[in-house]
Amino acid sequence: MRNDVDCILFDRDEIAACVAAIGRAIADDLDALAGHPTEIVLVPILTGSMVFVADLIRHLPQKLRIGVMSVSSYPGRSIESKGALIRGSLPDDLAGKHVLIVDDILDTGQTLLLVRQIVEEHRPAEVRTCVLLRKARPGAAAVHVDYVGFDIPDAFVVGYGLDYNDYYRNLPDLVTLRPEAMR
Ligand code: XMP
Repeated sequence: MRNDVDCILFDRDEIAACVAAIGRAIADDLDALAGHPTEIVLVPILTGSMVFVADLIRHLPQKLRIGVMSVSSYPGRSIESKGALIRGSLPDDLAGKHVLIVDDILDTGQTLLLVRQIVEEHRPAEVRTCVLLRKARPGAAAVHVDYVGFDIPDAFVVGYGLDYNDYYRNLPDLVTLRPEAMR
C-alpha cells in the first residue's frame, strides 16, 4: 500500500494537531451552550469521516449524541463526483437540537448542501458544519463551513478514512496516490 503513495500532504502528527485545534474551537463554542436544555447531536457523513469523527469526539467533553448518515459520491474507482447519493437515514428526532454535521472533505460542496437541507427539514434549533479538508474548487468556496481543518489543492486525496475504490482508508496520513494505483 505504501508503494502506491505519491505524496504525503499531512502526516499523522499534523493531522492530530489539526483535529485537536478544531476540537478546541468546537468545544469552546459548545461551552457557550452550557446549561442550555437543547441537546447537541453530531451527524457524521460516512464512510469517509469515520476516522476523523472518532478522533474529533474525544476532544469534545460535552454531553452529545451521534446520528450517522451514509452518503456515496465517488462509487468504485471514481475520482470525479457522481453526485451525492444518500444511503442511510438520519435520526428522526432532530427537532429543536443543535446539530453539527461533520464530513471528511468538501469538494463540489453537493454532499454538505444536501445533508444540511435534509437536517433542516427536521427543524433543528441550529445547524453547524465541520470538514477536515476543503479543496480549492469553485463549488467548495461557495459553501459556508463553520470549522475547516486544512485547505488543500484540487487533488484526489486518500488515507485517514478517505478511500479510492474503498481502499487506503487505513493509511494514517493524508496522501495523494501514484497514477498507476488509480487504474
Ligand atoms: P462533494 O463533491 O459532494 O464531495 O463536496 C464530498 C464527498 O466526496 C468524497 N470525496 C473524496 N473522497 N478523496 C476521497 O477519498 C477525495 O479527494 C474526495 N473528494 C471528495 C468524500 O466522501 C466527501 O464526503
